[in-house]
Amino acid sequence: MQLHADIKEILFTSDQIKARAKELGRQISADYREKPLALVGILNGVKPFLNDLLGALDLPISHDLIELSSYGQSTVSSGTVKVLKDVALDISGKDVLLVEDIIDTGLTLYTAIEHLRAHKPATLKTCTLLNKKTGRSVAITPDYYGFTIPDLFVVGYGLDYAENYRELPYIGVLKINK
Ligand code: IMP
Ligand code: MG
Repeated sequence: MQLHADIKEILFTSDQIKARAKELGRQISADYREKPLALVGILNGVKPFLNDLLGALDLPISHDLIELSSYGQSTVSSGTVKVLKDVALDISGKDVLLVEDIIDTGLTLYTAIEHLRAHKPATLKTCTLLNKKTGRSVAITPDYYGFTIPDLFVVGYGLDYAENYRELPYIGVLKINK
């Protein structure tokens, strides 16, 4: 595979990500035992992973997306996160799984959890593709995650730097790092 000039190293290929999403799908399907599940993805980075997960779940599924403010032109969190787009799906009384692309400081997931709790779901769990365990400023642990990664800025497979690189078919380490 041709490596993009701005990428230092590939961490996960799309085949590896899809295989891991299948495993997560099996695990989540077993945990919810045929009960309906509402997936809420966090825009924009989560789209490719959310699609993989939707295809891997053997449950009655509904899904929607929320949007939170992002890092913008930076590789480090600004420390404030705002909800830009709410769910249209009625999630009150439902089992909800919040799906994210990557957790670093934990602020985005924390804000999303607090926001969705106000909609009064019956249960609320979290799933992220990537987990930067060492980046936390809020103590938060996802219920499910794909891979742990070191504290590096990564792009591809939906993840961006200033809206670039989302289309790369792998997750790679950006040469300009934090
Ligand atoms: P947190 O709020 O610091 O946990 O970061 C979560 C959000 O920041 C994610 O939804 C991403 O949009 C973005 N983010 C964090 N780390 C990275 C990265 O390494 N590459 C691209 N986006 C990232
Ligand atoms: Mg994101």
